[in-house]
Amino acid sequence: MNFQDELKIKTDEIEAVIKSYLPKEEGFARTMAEAMNYSMLAGGKRLRPLFMRETFRLFGGEGKVAEPFMAAMEMIHTHSLIHDDLPAIDNDDYRRGRLTTHKVYGEAMGVLSGVALLNYAYEVMLSAFDILPGDERVVRALRIMAGKTGIHGMLGGQSVDVENDGKPLTQDMLDYIYRNKTSALIEASMMTGAILAGADEEQVKLIEQAALNIGLAFQIQDDILDVTSTEEELGKPTHSDEKNNKVTYVSLMGIEEASRQVEALSGEALALIESLEQKNEFLCQLVRELIMRRK
Ligand code: IPE
Ligand code: IPE
Ligand code: MG
Ligand code: MG
Ligand code: MG
Repeated sequence: MNFQDELKIKTDEIEAVIKSYLPKEEGFARTMAEAMNYSMLAGGKRLRPLFMRETFRLFGGEGKVAEPFMAAMEMIHTHSLIHDDLPAIDNDDYRRGRLTTHKVYGEAMGVLSGVALLNYAYEVMLSAFDILPGDERVVRALRIMAGKTGIHGMLGGQSVDVENDGKPLTQDMLDYIYRNKTSALIEASMMTGAILAGADEEQVKLIEQAALNIGLAFQIQDDILDVTSTEEELGKPTHSDEKNNKVTYVSLMGIEEASRQVEALSGEALALIESLEQKNEFLCQLVRELIMRRK
């Protein structure tokens, strides 16, 4: 089977897992549930749960214990997008090919449904104990998911990012922002997959390093697409970074050098993954394909 067909099958499977965990649209809080589901069901590449599942498979994971974590990761990521688009942050009107949540449901519901998704992700992850009661791996995975989402991860990165709009940045600060706002959730995805499959500490460390590089490459490519792609193809506005006076790899070093960085960082990630005794060719191909991604 070719890569694209395999990707489609795997993404459809993940879509079904995500759907099975969404909140019911009922009761007095149904508008918030609708707003949560509006963004969750708007599509999206589902890359983070895909990375989680493929890393789980890499280390021989079996059974359903990764599923609540996959759904929860997509909820946390979607929360980050809903809030990233708010008028107070990037102020963007389109996401995943649709009007943003705050445009459809209003700003208050954008704030509330975003934070509700973040909280609901923890309810969903805790349900992994129904599958493996008291399991130590589930505890370790929860610790990683919590740590990489908050002040020492994605939210830390977002806060430094927004605080520095329009200000000059050192390379160190830019790297802090990228490692946290983007790599942290990819690290959490892959580490969680590894931990739940029973990988040892050294293997989890290697996966963390690979995911860091994948995340940096992913954000640099996102910055490139912000200036080279179209709104139709991306499903979100282009030139958002320029509008917000952001320093990015593209504004610092230009598109060509930024592209070289995407390739180099992806190559480093691949070398790490390929150094393992365990093999997952689809995972390696995914990393290669993302270098060329157009959306
Ligand atoms: C967008 O992530 C935010 C970044 C970290 C650049 P994705 O490009 O994975 O967005 P979706 O999930 O496919 O919409
Ligand atoms: C934000 O980076 C990454 C998040 C944690 C949401 P961007 O602001 O560049 O993401 P997009 O381009 O809006 O998806
Ligand atoms: Mg942003
Ligand atoms: Mg943005
Ligand atoms: Mg962007």
